[in-house]
Amino acid sequence: MSSTANVSVKTYKSYINGQWVSSSTGETFPVYDPSTEAVIAQVASASVADVDSAVKAARAAFDSGPWPQTTAQDRGRVLFKLAEKIRQNSAMLAELESRNCGKPIVESEFDMADVATCFEYYGGLANKVTGSVLPVPANALSFTLREPVGVAGQIIPWNFPLLMAAWKLAPAIAAGCCCILKPAEQTPLTALEFANWLEEAGLPPGVVNIINGPGEISGAALVAHPGVDKIAFTGSAAVGKIIVRSAADTLKRVTLELGGKSPNIFFADADWEAAVDGALFGVFINQGEVCSAGSRVLVEKKIYGKFVEAMTEKAKRIKLGPPLDRDTKMGPLVSKEQYDRVSSYLELGKKEAKTAIGGGRPKGFGKGFYVEPTIFYDVDNTARISREEIFGPVASVIPFENEADAIKIANDTPYGLAGAVWTRDIFKAFRLVKSMRAGIIWVNHMQPTYVEAPWGGYKQSGFGRELGPWGLEEYLETKQVFVNLDENPIGWY
Ligand code: NAI
Ligand code: MG
Repeated sequence: MSSTANVSVKTYKSYINGQWVSSSTGETFPVYDPSTEAVIAQVASASVADVDSAVKAARAAFDSGPWPQTTAQDRGRVLFKLAEKIRQNSAMLAELESRNCGKPIVESEFDMADVATCFEYYGGLANKVTGSVLPVPANALSFTLREPVGVAGQIIPWNFPLLMAAWKLAPAIAAGCCCILKPAEQTPLTALEFANWLEEAGLPPGVVNIINGPGEISGAALVAHPGVDKIAFTGSAAVGKIIVRSAADTLKRVTLELGGKSPNIFFADADWEAAVDGALFGVFINQGEVCSAGSRVLVEKKIYGKFVEAMTEKAKRIKLGPPLDRDTKMGPLVSKEQYDRVSSYLELGKKEAKTAIGGGRPKGFGKGFYVEPTIFYDVDNTARISREEIFGPVASVIPFENEADAIKIANDTPYGLAGAVWTRDIFKAFRLVKSMRAGIIWVNHMQPTYVEAPWGGYKQSGFGRELGPWGLEEYLETKQVFVNLDENPIGWY
């Protein structure tokens, strides 16, 4: 299969109040295949007025309409139907995802399975939300009700497009919220195809709306809108900070997942082959466009030289190619903008450290935003390539002396999303688990995560948690109910 096959340029509208509508300005923006740089779609660019329509539709669906009358079980059924649609159409969705964001097709197939699983998980969880009865004095009855937080604005990135949509939509629907989803402008296509099934799955108009366009316009309008109760965001720390400031005006609830500079730590006693694979997989999977990328590879001095050599040898085997080729292990970066950003870090890295492999554009690719898997070594943890999120296939390998040194370097970062430790010594492994200031820690692996487990960061990697029951909590309010049992409870005046 080739990604250069003729693909017609499809036009997509916004999905607002159960209808496909053009932008109020008539504007569209192009969407690219990053492996060919060809335009593959035109998408309606939502104006501030369109955002307002979407919020009004969500507001109306939340405040009246049939949605608030649905039972938790009904909402669960909707989620199971959506999961079924994803499974039935997973080949089409995976291909579209790869074509639009450049990730290898095999990875998109895993993503689509995870998307379906996420809808199924929250389908099952929907009717397990319960309040509690509280042990107050005998002359009162006190209990809590769990209620949906309201209208949620959900702004997502381009690295796992439909998966990030699922992580946000599924718990919101389970909780009884209404949503306005804004996909990244680079990768709106799978979410738009998904919108075709919302009505059939049983969602009333306005419960889920999907708008697209530049973050500075449509995203910013969503964050500022007084009709929105909560913003859930995944993306850059820079935009996360803008969102918190803007949301302050209306005191919206905000949850943020902002990526990081995660340490992947290798002790001399780790299983050698597994460790070398783990160092590469940790930072090169999905072209390194992963919020939890193990972009700082910390290696014990005893094995440092040999480890860098082994990583380099194996990295030579990573097959770059068109996303739709089944043997491709790394596709292009998502966009010209990301290619330029990563390329500038490659130039910086060559000055700040030594280059073991990579450092530029691979040979033999005329078109497409491809960059070589790159390993910088002898990197100091104060270097910019050790501190700033690059979001591309770039590893900074940093030596450490001993356990205390490893912990110090690992935590010396403004971020705290994830970390991993590789060792056969369980005492050391668990000491590291407790010492690392991050929301997700792997032992002898890096990257896998399941929908049952919480996902989110410490420090400047954001706040709030997605997935599992934690992800649902973020879409719920808690109401305290006090029932007086005394005939004349006050008797004060
Ligand atoms: P970004 O943070 O600008 O974009 C993410 C989402 O936020 C998109 O939907 C975008 O339209 C929206 N957005 C942008 N500006 C906004 C604003 N002012 N108000 C509301 N929404 C806004 O990320 P970008 O520019 O695509 O990538 C820049 C860097 O961000 C990457 O190099 C990477 O380091 C980081 N990043 C981290 C991600 C993560 O998973 N944590 C995902 C994507 C990017
Ligand atoms: Mg941006």
